[in-house]
Amino acid sequence: MSTTEQSETGRPDADRPDTFQRSLAHWAEEGRAGMESFYALASEDYRQMVAARNWAADLRRVARDGRVRALDVACGSGKFPAELMRRGLDDALAGTTVEVDLLDPSAFSISEARSVLGPPFVAAAEHEVRLQDLDPSHGDYDVAWATHALYAIPPAELDAGVARMVEAVRPGGFGAVVQATTTSHYLRFAELFRAAYSPTSTPFTSAEQVAESLVAAGVTPSVGMLRYTVSSPSRDVVEGFLQRCAFDDSVSLETMESDGPLGEYLAGCREPGGYRFTQDVHVLTWEA
Ligand SMILES: C[S@@+](CC[C@H](N)C(=O)[O-])C[C@H]1O[C@@H](n2cnc3c(N)ncnc32)[C@H](O)[C@@H]1O
Repeated sequence: MSTTEQSETGRPDADRPDTFQRSLAHWAEEGRAGMESFYALASEDYRQMVAARNWAADLRRVARDGRVRALDVACGSGKFPAELMRRGLDDALAGTTVEVDLLDPSAFSISEARSVLGPPFVAAAEHEVRLQDLDPSHGDYDVAWATHALYAIPPAELDAGVARMVEAVRPGGFGAVVQATTTSHYLRFAELFRAAYSPTSTPFTSAEQVAESLVAAGVTPSVGMLRYTVSSPSRDVVEGFLQRCAFDDSVSLETMESDGPLGEYLAGCREPGGYRFTQDVHVLTWEA
């Protein structure tokens, strides 16, 4: 794409598709390359969240007759179960099977997540819907998790979506949401990008909003806090990561750097030889 074309698409544009549509368009086969460049940096999210907690103990606690019925909300490409497997969940569960229902409005995501599942996980049902549209007849799960998953639920629909997740877990079960806070790179960058290029689009939801929705659904979550940085010396990698953060491939890194508040934020993330971004993430858990 030429510089002229980039600066044209980089203008604020009320006609840009809204956040959920942009998310869905990127969680598709056409978005595979962008997804892969995103995870060059974002794989750290899953290393951090899996290391942060004894997930095996959580799953053992809610198992019934050697099995756990799980709901993976907004399963994406399955990075969370993949990282649990990589860190030895199968050995830690010693024979307990985790039957996972995959929920995502993207058929591509469901297929990707299904393809990474191995012991102790077994793929079960698929729900190709938005969380807020999950049929209330799907329930009685021992555990439901949503890891970096709820950003594209419009804030006005978050109470409904989170309530569906809470209701889906049986009494005595366990729920977990891992989500970036308003001080994290994800939310700060998304908000500045939105202000610069897509001011009428729906903002991403934050961990703080998820916590409020959990309380509205009758749950008092425990909150674990994670802070870590991700970095790269490669401008190409950073550009791909940032474009995926915004679900918008039309604005180059150079254009973002030249924008006022967004450019100032990015200047603050520069370090000798590259970029470093700080993530503040909450691990919200509850016993149903
Ligand atoms: C970053 S991925 C989640 C990553 C995933 N938890 C993992 O372990 O790899 C975000 C996913 O949210 C999905 N999504 C977007 N809006 C949604 C909604 N309203 N309800 C459920 N999922 C949604 C997208 O299709 C995408 O697959």
